[in-house]
Amino acid sequence: MSVTVAPLPTGAGDVDDSTNFSAALLAWFDHHGRKDLPWQQDPTTYRVWVSEVMLQQTQVSTVIPYFQRFMTSFPDISSLAASSIDEVLLHWSGLGYYARARNLHKTAQSIQENHHGKFPGTLPALQALPGIGRSTAAAILALSANQCHAILDGNVKRVLSRFHTIEGWPGTPVVARQLWALAEQHTPSRRVADYTQAIMDLGATICTRSNPQCMKCPLTKTCQACLQQRVNDYPSPRARRNMPYKTTTMIILLNQAGEVLLVKRPPTGIWGGLWSLPEYTQQDRDSKKIRAWCRSEFGCNIEIREQWPAVRHSFTHFHLTITPLVAHSLNREILIMEGANHVWYNVEQFETHAMATPVRRLLEQLQLAKGELT
Ligand code: ADE
Repeated sequence: MSVTVAPLPTGAGDVDDSTNFSAALLAWFDHHGRKDLPWQQDPTTYRVWVSEVMLQQTQVSTVIPYFQRFMTSFPDISSLAASSIDEVLLHWSGLGYYARARNLHKTAQSIQENHHGKFPGTLPALQALPGIGRSTAAAILALSANQCHAILDGNVKRVLSRFHTIEGWPGTPVVARQLWALAEQHTPSRRVADYTQAIMDLGATICTRSNPQCMKCPLTKTCQACLQQRVNDYPSPRARRNMPYKTTTMIILLNQAGEVLLVKRPPTGIWGGLWSLPEYTQQDRDSKKIRAWCRSEFGCNIEIREQWPAVRHSFTHFHLTITPLVAHSLNREILIMEGANHVWYNVEQFETHAMATPVRRLLEQLQLAKGELT
Protein backbone atom coordinates (compact mmCIF):
# COMPACT_ATOMS: atom_id res chain seq x y z
CA MET A 1 0.00 0.00 0.00
CA SER A 2 1.45 3.36 -0.95
CA VAL A 3 1.36 6.27 1.42
CA THR A 4 1.40 9.79 0.07
CA VAL A 5 3.35 12.27 2.07
CA ALA A 6 2.97 15.96 1.36
CA PRO A 7 6.17 17.94 0.73
CA LEU A 8 7.68 19.48 3.82
CA PRO A 9 6.00 22.85 4.34
CA THR A 10 7.86 23.68 7.52
CA GLY A 11 9.86 26.86 7.79
CA ALA A 12 13.61 27.24 7.85
CA GLY A 13 14.87 26.69 11.34
CA ASP A 14 12.55 23.81 12.04
CA VAL A 15 14.44 21.02 13.69
CA ASP A 16 12.57 18.15 12.10
CA ASP A 17 14.45 14.97 11.40
CA SER A 18 15.04 13.40 8.02
CA THR A 19 11.89 11.31 8.26
CA ASN A 20 9.55 14.25 7.66
CA PHE A 21 7.69 13.07 10.71
CA SER A 22 5.75 16.25 11.36
CA ALA A 23 4.98 16.87 7.69
CA ALA A 24 3.55 13.40 7.24
CA LEU A 25 1.54 13.75 10.39
CA LEU A 26 0.14 17.16 9.41
CA ALA A 27 -0.83 15.90 5.96
CA TRP A 28 -2.63 12.99 7.61
CA PHE A 29 -4.29 15.35 10.09
CA ASP A 30 -5.67 17.51 7.28
CA HIS A 31 -7.62 14.51 5.99
CA HIS A 32 -8.24 12.36 9.03
CA GLY A 33 -7.66 14.38 12.19
CA ARG A 34 -10.45 15.33 14.59
CA LYS A 35 -11.56 18.89 14.10
CA ASP A 36 -15.03 18.99 15.58
CA LEU A 37 -14.44 18.11 19.21
CA PRO A 38 -16.31 20.55 21.48
CA TRP A 39 -13.15 22.08 22.95
CA GLN A 40 -11.80 22.71 19.45
CA GLN A 41 -14.64 25.14 18.84
CA ASP A 42 -13.55 28.41 20.43
CA PRO A 43 -10.32 26.94 21.88
CA THR A 44 -9.73 29.45 24.66
CA THR A 45 -7.12 28.65 27.26
CA TYR A 46 -9.89 27.98 29.77
CA ARG A 47 -11.76 25.50 27.54
CA VAL A 48 -8.58 23.73 26.45
CA TRP A 49 -7.36 23.49 30.05
CA VAL A 50 -10.62 21.93 31.28
CA SER A 51 -10.68 19.49 28.36
CA GLU A 52 -7.04 18.48 28.80
CA VAL A 53 -7.56 17.79 32.50
CA MET A 54 -10.69 15.75 31.75
CA LEU A 55 -8.81 13.86 29.03
CA GLN A 56 -6.04 12.80 31.39
CA GLN A 57 -6.77 9.08 31.87
CA THR A 58 -10.18 9.34 30.17
CA GLN A 59 -11.30 8.74 26.58
CA VAL A 60 -12.70 11.44 24.33
CA SER A 61 -16.13 9.79 23.99
CA THR A 62 -16.54 9.69 27.78
CA VAL A 63 -15.33 13.25 28.23
CA ILE A 64 -17.59 14.99 25.68
CA PRO A 65 -20.87 15.07 27.70
CA TYR A 66 -18.98 15.94 30.90
CA PHE A 67 -17.21 18.80 29.12
CA GLN A 68 -20.43 20.17 27.71
CA ARG A 69 -22.22 20.11 31.06
CA PHE A 70 -19.21 21.64 32.76
CA MET A 71 -19.07 24.52 30.27
CA THR A 72 -22.79 25.19 30.64
CA SER A 73 -22.43 25.52 34.42
CA PHE A 74 -18.95 27.06 34.53
CA PRO A 75 -18.46 28.98 31.28
CA ASP A 76 -15.37 30.82 32.47
CA ILE A 77 -12.71 30.87 35.12
CA SER A 78 -14.54 33.30 37.39
CA SER A 79 -17.68 31.14 37.53
CA LEU A 80 -15.53 28.09 38.33
CA ALA A 81 -13.57 29.95 41.00
CA ALA A 82 -16.79 31.22 42.59
CA SER A 83 -18.44 27.79 42.73
CA SER A 84 -18.24 25.38 45.66
CA ILE A 85 -16.12 22.24 45.52
CA ASP A 86 -19.34 20.22 45.98
CA GLU A 87 -20.75 21.66 42.75
CA VAL A 88 -17.53 20.94 40.87
CA LEU A 89 -17.40 17.36 42.18
CA LEU A 90 -21.04 16.88 41.21
CA HIS A 91 -20.09 17.75 37.62
CA TRP A 92 -17.20 15.28 37.85
CA SER A 93 -19.28 12.52 39.39
CA GLY A 94 -18.50 9.27 37.51
CA LEU A 95 -15.45 10.61 35.64
CA GLY A 96 -13.00 9.22 38.23
CA TYR A 97 -9.64 10.48 39.47
CA TYR A 98 -11.34 13.14 41.57
CA ALA A 99 -8.08 14.87 42.51
CA ARG A 100 -8.33 16.33 39.00
CA ALA A 101 -11.55 18.12 39.91
CA ARG A 102 -10.19 19.36 43.22
CA ASN A 103 -7.07 20.69 41.46
CA LEU A 104 -9.17 22.32 38.74
CA HIS A 105 -11.12 24.19 41.40
CA LYS A 106 -7.95 25.18 43.31
CA THR A 107 -6.29 26.36 40.13
CA ALA A 108 -9.30 28.49 39.12
CA GLN A 109 -9.21 30.16 42.54
CA SER A 110 -5.47 30.66 42.36
CA ILE A 111 -5.71 32.25 38.90
CA GLN A 112 -8.51 34.49 40.10
CA GLU A 113 -6.51 35.60 43.15
CA ASN A 114 -2.97 35.70 41.85
CA HIS A 115 -3.27 36.31 38.11
CA HIS A 116 -6.28 38.69 37.91
CA GLY A 117 -8.40 35.91 36.40
CA LYS A 118 -6.10 35.51 33.38
CA PHE A 119 -4.25 32.32 32.58
CA PRO A 120 -0.49 32.72 32.72
CA GLY A 121 0.96 32.41 29.22
CA THR A 122 4.23 30.62 29.91
CA LEU A 123 5.12 27.00 30.46
CA PRO A 124 6.75 27.40 33.90
CA ALA A 125 3.91 29.55 35.23
CA LEU A 126 1.30 27.02 34.05
CA GLN A 127 3.28 24.11 35.47
CA ALA A 128 3.30 25.82 38.86
CA LEU A 129 -0.50 25.44 39.07
CA PRO A 130 -2.13 22.44 40.79
CA GLY A 131 -2.77 19.47 38.49
CA ILE A 132 -0.88 20.86 35.48
CA GLY A 133 2.20 18.84 34.58
CA ARG A 134 4.68 19.52 31.82
CA SER A 135 2.71 17.80 29.05
CA THR A 136 -0.64 19.32 30.03
CA ALA A 137 0.92 22.80 30.25
CA ALA A 138 2.48 22.32 26.81
CA ALA A 139 -0.78 21.03 25.31
CA ILE A 140 -2.71 24.01 26.71
CA LEU A 141 -0.28 26.53 25.20
CA ALA A 142 0.07 24.66 21.90
CA LEU A 143 -3.66 24.08 21.36
CA SER A 144 -4.94 27.44 22.56
CA ALA A 145 -2.11 29.77 21.54
CA ASN A 146 -0.14 27.82 18.94
CA GLN A 147 2.93 28.19 21.14
CA CYS A 148 5.75 25.84 20.23
CA HIS A 149 6.03 23.27 23.03
CA ALA A 150 6.37 19.50 22.84
CA ILE A 151 3.81 17.29 24.57
CA LEU A 152 4.30 13.78 25.88
CA ASP A 153 1.10 12.17 27.06
CA GLY A 154 0.40 8.44 27.01
CA ASN A 155 -0.57 8.43 23.34
CA VAL A 156 2.54 10.31 22.27
CA LYS A 157 4.77 8.06 24.37
CA ARG A 158 3.36 5.06 22.50
CA VAL A 159 3.80 6.64 19.04
CA LEU A 160 7.39 7.70 19.72
CA SER A 161 8.41 4.46 21.45
CA ARG A 162 7.26 2.58 18.38
CA PHE A 163 8.60 4.98 15.80
CA HIS A 164 12.08 4.93 17.37
CA THR A 165 11.92 1.45 18.98
CA ILE A 166 12.73 2.88 22.40
CA GLU A 167 13.33 0.11 24.90
CA GLY A 168 12.13 0.36 28.47
CA TRP A 169 8.94 1.40 30.21
CA PRO A 170 8.20 5.10 29.44
CA GLY A 171 7.50 5.73 33.13
CA THR A 172 11.17 5.36 34.06
CA PRO A 173 13.04 8.67 34.13
CA VAL A 174 15.75 7.61 31.70
CA VAL A 175 13.22 6.48 29.07
CA ALA A 176 11.04 9.54 29.68
CA ARG A 177 14.06 11.81 29.11
CA GLN A 178 14.74 10.13 25.79
CA LEU A 179 11.10 10.44 24.74
CA TRP A 180 10.94 14.11 25.72
CA ALA A 181 14.02 14.81 23.60
CA LEU A 182 12.41 13.08 20.61
CA ALA A 183 9.10 14.84 21.20
CA GLU A 184 10.91 18.19 21.10
CA GLN A 185 12.87 17.21 18.02
CA HIS A 186 9.69 16.36 16.11
CA THR A 187 7.58 19.34 17.14
CA PRO A 188 7.50 21.84 14.27
CA SER A 189 7.62 25.58 14.80
CA ARG A 190 4.57 26.12 12.57
CA ARG A 191 1.09 24.69 12.89
CA VAL A 192 1.93 23.54 16.41
CA ALA A 193 -1.72 23.34 17.44
CA ASP A 194 -2.56 21.07 14.50
CA TYR A 195 0.56 18.98 15.04
CA THR A 196 -0.26 18.54 18.74
CA GLN A 197 -3.79 17.45 17.97
CA ALA A 198 -2.48 15.25 15.14
CA ILE A 199 -0.05 13.24 17.24
CA MET A 200 -2.64 12.75 19.98
CA ASP A 201 -5.23 11.67 17.41
CA LEU A 202 -2.81 9.28 15.75
CA GLY A 203 -2.11 7.64 19.10
CA ALA A 204 -5.78 7.49 20.02
CA THR A 205 -7.17 6.23 16.70
CA ILE A 206 -4.40 4.47 14.70
CA CYS A 207 -1.37 3.74 16.85
CA THR A 208 -3.52 2.22 19.57
CA ARG A 209 -2.20 0.04 22.35
CA SER A 210 -3.75 -3.29 21.50
CA ASN A 211 -5.01 -2.98 17.95
CA PRO A 212 -2.68 -0.71 15.95
CA GLN A 213 -3.74 -0.09 12.35
CA CYS A 214 -0.36 0.35 10.74
CA MET A 215 -1.85 0.10 7.24
CA LYS A 216 -3.58 3.41 7.82
CA CYS A 217 -0.64 5.13 9.51
CA PRO A 218 1.12 8.02 7.75
CA LEU A 219 4.40 7.08 9.45
CA THR A 220 4.45 3.45 8.45
CA LYS A 221 7.34 3.72 5.98
CA THR A 222 9.73 5.09 8.56
CA CYS A 223 8.39 3.63 11.80
CA GLN A 224 11.13 1.36 13.13
CA ALA A 225 8.75 -0.91 15.04
CA CYS A 226 6.57 -1.34 11.96
CA LEU A 227 9.57 -2.00 9.68
CA GLN A 228 10.81 -4.63 12.12
CA GLN A 229 7.30 -6.03 12.56
CA ARG A 230 7.59 -5.50 16.29
CA VAL A 231 4.85 -2.94 16.87
CA ASN A 232 3.33 -4.94 19.70
CA ASP A 233 6.65 -4.98 21.57
CA TYR A 234 6.49 -1.22 22.16
CA PRO A 235 6.21 0.56 24.44
CA SER A 236 7.77 -1.89 26.91
CA PRO A 237 5.26 -2.69 29.63
CA ARG A 238 5.71 -1.71 33.22
CA ALA A 239 7.07 -4.48 35.44
CA ARG A 240 4.05 -6.23 36.93
CA ARG A 241 3.00 -4.68 40.17
CA ASN A 242 1.29 -6.84 42.68
CA MET A 243 -1.49 -4.57 43.73
CA PRO A 244 -2.90 -5.26 47.18
CA TYR A 245 -6.48 -6.40 47.61
CA LYS A 246 -8.53 -4.59 50.23
CA THR A 247 -12.04 -5.24 51.45
CA THR A 248 -14.75 -3.11 52.94
CA THR A 249 -18.41 -3.37 53.87
CA MET A 250 -20.77 -0.65 52.66
CA ILE A 251 -23.97 -0.25 54.58
CA ILE A 252 -27.02 0.80 52.62
CA LEU A 253 -28.83 2.16 55.64
CA LEU A 254 -32.48 3.04 55.04
CA ASN A 255 -34.58 5.17 57.36
CA GLN A 256 -38.31 4.72 57.79
CA ALA A 257 -38.98 7.10 54.90
CA GLY A 258 -36.94 4.83 52.62
CA GLU A 259 -34.06 7.30 52.32
CA VAL A 260 -30.43 6.16 52.34
CA LEU A 261 -27.75 7.56 54.59
CA LEU A 262 -24.82 9.12 52.72
CA VAL A 263 -21.68 10.29 54.45
CA LYS A 264 -19.17 12.70 53.04
CA ARG A 265 -15.63 11.45 52.66
CA PRO A 266 -12.67 13.48 53.93
CA PRO A 267 -11.55 16.16 51.45
CA THR A 268 -8.39 14.35 50.35
CA GLY A 269 -7.54 10.76 49.52
CA ILE A 270 -9.67 8.12 47.82
CA TRP A 271 -12.95 9.65 46.58
CA GLY A 272 -12.01 12.78 48.52
CA GLY A 273 -14.97 15.11 49.08
CA LEU A 274 -17.46 12.68 47.48
CA TRP A 275 -20.59 11.33 49.12
CA SER A 276 -20.44 7.64 49.93
CA LEU A 277 -22.12 4.94 51.99
CA PRO A 278 -21.09 4.30 55.59
CA GLU A 279 -18.16 1.89 55.56
CA TYR A 280 -17.45 -0.76 58.14
CA THR A 281 -13.82 -1.54 57.50
CA GLN A 282 -13.21 -4.43 59.91
CA GLN A 283 -12.63 -7.76 58.25
CA ASP A 284 -15.05 -9.79 60.40
CA ARG A 285 -18.41 -8.60 59.00
CA ASP A 286 -19.99 -9.90 62.18
CA SER A 287 -23.57 -8.64 62.26
CA LYS A 288 -23.53 -8.03 65.99
CA LYS A 289 -20.41 -5.90 65.69
CA ILE A 290 -21.84 -4.03 62.72
CA ARG A 291 -24.98 -3.24 64.67
CA ALA A 292 -22.87 -2.02 67.59
CA TRP A 293 -20.76 0.07 65.22
CA CYS A 294 -23.85 1.74 63.74
CA ARG A 295 -25.13 2.47 67.22
CA SER A 296 -21.89 4.11 68.30
CA GLU A 297 -21.26 5.88 64.98
CA PHE A 298 -24.78 7.09 64.19
CA GLY A 299 -26.79 6.41 67.36
CA CYS A 300 -28.95 4.18 65.22
CA ASN A 301 -30.35 0.72 65.95
CA ILE A 302 -30.36 -1.28 62.78
CA GLU A 303 -31.54 -4.56 61.41
CA ILE A 304 -29.46 -6.11 58.63
CA ARG A 305 -31.82 -7.39 55.98
CA GLU A 306 -29.72 -8.46 53.00
CA GLN A 307 -26.22 -8.98 51.73
CA TRP A 308 -25.72 -8.19 48.07
CA PRO A 309 -23.07 -9.76 45.81
CA ALA A 310 -19.63 -8.21 46.22
CA VAL A 311 -18.56 -5.40 43.88
CA ARG A 312 -14.95 -5.02 42.68
CA HIS A 313 -13.35 -1.67 41.99
CA SER A 314 -9.72 -0.98 41.06
CA PHE A 315 -7.80 2.13 41.99
CA THR A 316 -4.33 3.07 40.80
CA HIS A 317 -2.67 1.35 43.74
CA PHE A 318 -5.05 -1.32 44.97
CA HIS A 319 -8.14 -3.39 44.25
CA LEU A 320 -11.14 -2.98 46.48
CA THR A 321 -13.86 -5.57 47.12
CA ILE A 322 -17.02 -4.01 48.48
CA THR A 323 -19.63 -6.12 50.25
CA PRO A 324 -22.94 -4.24 50.32
CA LEU A 325 -25.30 -4.83 53.23
CA VAL A 326 -28.84 -3.50 53.23
CA ALA A 327 -29.93 -2.41 56.69
CA HIS A 328 -33.00 -0.67 58.10
CA SER A 329 -33.05 1.80 60.92
CA LEU A 330 -35.33 0.65 63.69
CA ASN A 331 -35.58 4.10 65.23
CA ARG A 332 -38.87 5.79 64.58
CA GLU A 333 -37.45 9.26 64.55
CA ILE A 334 -34.40 10.15 62.49
CA LEU A 335 -31.54 10.38 64.94
CA ILE A 336 -28.86 11.25 62.45
CA MET A 337 -29.02 14.94 61.81
CA GLU A 338 -28.35 16.10 58.30
CA GLY A 339 -25.40 18.42 58.08
CA ALA A 340 -22.15 19.05 56.33
CA ASN A 341 -21.19 15.36 56.44
CA HIS A 342 -24.44 13.39 56.57
CA VAL A 343 -27.46 13.40 54.33
CA TRP A 344 -30.55 11.26 53.92
CA TYR A 345 -30.77 10.70 50.20
CA ASN A 346 -33.84 9.84 48.18
CA VAL A 347 -32.74 7.51 45.37
CA GLU A 348 -35.71 8.50 43.24
CA GLN A 349 -34.45 12.03 42.87
CA PHE A 350 -32.13 13.45 40.27
CA GLU A 351 -28.51 13.07 41.31
CA THR A 352 -27.79 15.98 43.63
CA HIS A 353 -24.67 14.73 45.38
CA ALA A 354 -21.33 13.80 43.84
CA MET A 355 -20.52 10.15 44.28
CA ALA A 356 -18.11 7.59 42.92
CA THR A 357 -19.34 5.14 40.30
CA PRO A 358 -19.58 2.01 42.54
CA VAL A 359 -21.70 3.95 45.06
CA ARG A 360 -23.96 5.34 42.35
CA ARG A 361 -24.40 1.82 40.93
CA LEU A 362 -25.41 0.48 44.34
CA LEU A 363 -28.00 3.23 44.66
CA GLU A 364 -29.30 2.45 41.18
CA GLN A 365 -29.58 -1.19 42.23
CA LEU A 366 -31.51 -0.09 45.32
CA GLN A 367 -33.83 1.99 43.17
CA LEU A 368 -34.52 -1.04 40.97
CA ALA A 369 -35.10 -3.25 44.01
CA LYS A 370 -37.55 -0.71 45.43
CA GLY A 371 -39.35 -0.53 42.07
CA GLU A 372 -39.83 -4.29 42.11
CA LEU A 373 -41.32 -4.18 45.59
CA THR A 374 -43.84 -1.44 44.81
N1 ADE B 1 -6.12 13.36 24.80
C1 ADE B 1 -5.58 14.36 25.49
N2 ADE B 1 -5.81 15.54 24.91
C2 ADE B 1 -6.55 15.28 23.81
C3 ADE B 1 -7.12 16.09 22.80
N3 ADE B 1 -6.97 17.41 22.82
N4 ADE B 1 -7.80 15.49 21.82
C4 ADE B 1 -7.93 14.16 21.83
N5 ADE B 1 -7.42 13.35 22.75
C5 ADE B 1 -6.74 13.90 23.73
